[in-house]
Amino acid sequence: MICCLGAGPGDLGYLTQRGRELIETADVVAGFRAVVDLVRPLVRGECKIVTMGYKDQVEILQKVALLHHEGAKCVVVFMGDIHFSGFQFLERVERACGHPVETVAGISAAQILASRCRVCFDETSFITFHRRGDIAPFQEHLVHALQDDRNVIVIPRPWDFMPKTIAVFLLSRGVGPGHRTEVWERLTQNEAAWLGTLGDCCADFSDMSIMLIRTLHPMPSQLEPIETQGTVGMRSDASVGMRSRASGAAENIACLREDDRAAPKSSRAN
Ligand SMILES: C[S@@+](CC[C@H](N)C(=O)[O-])C[C@H]1O[C@@H](n2cnc3c(N)ncnc32)[C@H](O)[C@@H]1O
Repeated sequence: MICCLGAGPGDLGYLTQRGRELIETADVVAGFRAVVDLVRPLVRGECKIVTMGYKDQVEILQKVALLHHEGAKCVVVFMGDIHFSGFQFLERVERACGHPVETVAGISAAQILASRCRVCFDETSFITFHRRGDIAPFQEHLVHALQDDRNVIVIPRPWDFMPKTIAVFLLSRGVGPGHRTEVWERLTQNEAAWLGTLGDCCADFSDMSIMLIRTLHPMPSQLEPIETQGTVGMRSDASVGMRSRASGAAENIACLREDDRAAPKSSRAN
């Protein structure tokens, strides 16, 4: 048996119960070193641990596939969730096994970002550049998503398309510099956040970064209007709905500080 498991964004507190059970009962746990290191405390003593890097992944996955075909219970761990920017690795696992494999969802860094920045996926597009191959169609999609007044959550490409290059690209394509932009590093670990505008986004960030570019025109609340009679001194529902769409990380951070583990340890100055 073999399955691919989303191990969450980097803190075991965000590993699902199902994921924990799979790791605790596995004969083989395999994956990229950083992800395996995250789940290592849950692995049984007799479990075989198989780590790999970008260069040797094809060769090592063949060994994992062999163990699977011999009857071992193998769990291949993925960063975050498999279904967010994980399909190229999934394809490699399936190619090594020679058949489709089960996937078990995890919590993506994109979902954590949505929660920190209080954006709703209904009104937000997710685009990853962290992939091999031609990124031009994804670059086009990014421009169109912003032109369509959607927020966009972007996973940059560490080797050539990081936040400042993304900003330069978008400005060159006529996207306005005023889009509020946030870059978050190491979410759920020792977090850092940069908050500014697309036009100001010229800092360098680590590979463990994820970016939010907000629409210039957040959707107004579509809740039904409320009766104003008898609500003197109370904020209307419509303004609350609007606020939750337009408000940024700063307000959310204020709530999160109550929970030390999730609070950013540092934040970059704008
Ligand atoms: C190949 S993608 C995999 C994304 C993953 N499947 C997910 O659902 O989060 C790896 C990239 O995701 C982003 N990423 C993953 N975890 C992150 C975290 N905890 N904080 C910030 N960015 C993260 C970084 O840009 C990293 O280089």
